[in-house]
Amino acid sequence: MTLIMKPDLEHARGWSDVFTDAMPEMPVRDWSAPGDKADIEFAFVWAPEPGALREFPNLKCIFSIGAGVDHLLKDPDLPDGVPIVRMVEPELTQGMSEYVTMHVLRYHREVPALEQQQRDKVWHELIAPTAPSRKVGILGFGVLGQDCARVLHALKFDLASWSRTPKQVDGVQSFHGADGLDPFLARTEILVCLLPLTAETEGILNRDLFAKLPRGAALINAGRGGHQVEADILEALDNGQLSGATLDVFRTEPLPTDSPFWTHPKVTLTPHIASVTQQVSAIEQVVANIRRVQSGEAPLNTVDRKLGY
Ligand code: NAP
Ligand code: GLV
Repeated sequence: MTLIMKPDLEHARGWSDVFTDAMPEMPVRDWSAPGDKADIEFAFVWAPEPGALREFPNLKCIFSIGAGVDHLLKDPDLPDGVPIVRMVEPELTQGMSEYVTMHVLRYHREVPALEQQQRDKVWHELIAPTAPSRKVGILGFGVLGQDCARVLHALKFDLASWSRTPKQVDGVQSFHGADGLDPFLARTEILVCLLPLTAETEGILNRDLFAKLPRGAALINAGRGGHQVEADILEALDNGQLSGATLDVFRTEPLPTDSPFWTHPKVTLTPHIASVTQQVSAIEQVVANIRRVQSGEAPLNTVDRKLGY
């Protein structure tokens, strides 16, 4: 009964101490010194090398450090039948709602234009409508999308969601599936992407989709870089179809220094920090799930490998 950790993200170092405090009876090994691989029953990882997880013959559960598991599922040799648990923890959810709300309010209150006016020393009363007249659409309405909606609903934004299956959430008009996408886009002035990256959603943020938004809509992408056709975003910004884009994720991360996104006047760029998994509350979820597995129950928040999320 041992857990192995591969916290290969800058913010995930030092987690083994937190885990040991929460579950002292469970030995923890570092990825670099796995010892006898037959001892390992649980793995807590971000992006192990393809094929590496299959080398643990007694693995009972794989825990993803992140909510998104696209990088894990890229491994063609994942051990069959071992459940993969994605990260669902309250601090990660809170962080995303803060990020999305901040950027929705920024576009809603026309902050980029006001900042430009300040740089140009222009005194012009740029008056935004109030939130009930602002249509925000959330692509991907799972754990993160729904919590963002909860906060935006409290501010009285006019909200809609798009998901694979229909939803019933107070104050949010639900659209779903391929047929629901166009009417969802047609009414969305600020588009927030919180989709998982799957075969179906890869490249979804493209020219065709932007063309279905009202002219001058704003984009906030905190999903994955693989959702973006990056040349199409630049084109839509330059031709005015998009008025601004807040991008937390990119096809290549870290973003190369020669990327035009760094200096584009209509882009707000953050280095994949929209929300990060927080140690203590994340480990609480992992320990609770390990206890479930040990008592013969299925773990919570497992990934459907066929759907890819
Ligand atoms: P989740 O709970 O699994 O929700 C995913 C949502 O996407 C669900 O509503 C799902 O529909 C919808 N969806 C999936 N495939 C779809 C499709 N083909 N068409 C329409 N809707 C589809 O995931 P989450 O916890 O909210 O996280 C979402 C993503 O956020 C993660 O996968 C990750 O990539 C990203 N993320 C980014 C950061 C960051 O810092 N930038 C941090 C955390 C997470 P159903 O509800 O019908 O299943
Ligand atoms: C971060 O991007 C995550 O998926 O949790």
